[in-house]
Amino acid sequence: MSREQKLSEIIADHSGREGPLIPILHDVQEEFGCVDEEAEQAIAAALNLTRAEVHGVVSFYHDFKPKADPRPVVQICRAESCKSRGVEALIADAEQAAGARVKLHTVYCLGLCSSGPNARVGDRLHARLDSAALVKLIENA
Ligand code: FES
Repeated sequence: MSREQKLSEIIADHSGREGPLIPILHDVQEEFGCVDEEAEQAIAAALNLTRAEVHGVVSFYHDFKPKADPRPVVQICRAESCKSRGVEALIADAEQAAGARVKLHTVYCLGLCSSGPNARVGDRLHARLDSAALVKLIENA
């Protein structure tokens, strides 16, 4: 299936729904890793909006990226519970291990508060991290 076909399929999946723009943008972001100009134009045409209106929403929310970032992502929880369990002391080593190859993304709670510090790579959660475990996780991402 071509990119254009997939885009049309995502838009069609939400047609007839009230307030389809945000769900479409989330699905496009998930599928392609970004909501680029081409996607904005297709979505605008399908929803009878201007591209500027779609772009206004895309640029307002940090979740939507104009360009795909090919780097692996390691999410690190820096919310209160993980903070109280020492996550901040791991950040310098994590940043050094990540360098420019891995994108570290701060999140605020991964739902495993009692077993922090926690991180997520893809769909996998990693709990009770110490510096060595987090560095290994980043190196293997
Ligand atoms: S505070 Fe870190 S998982 Fe909830």
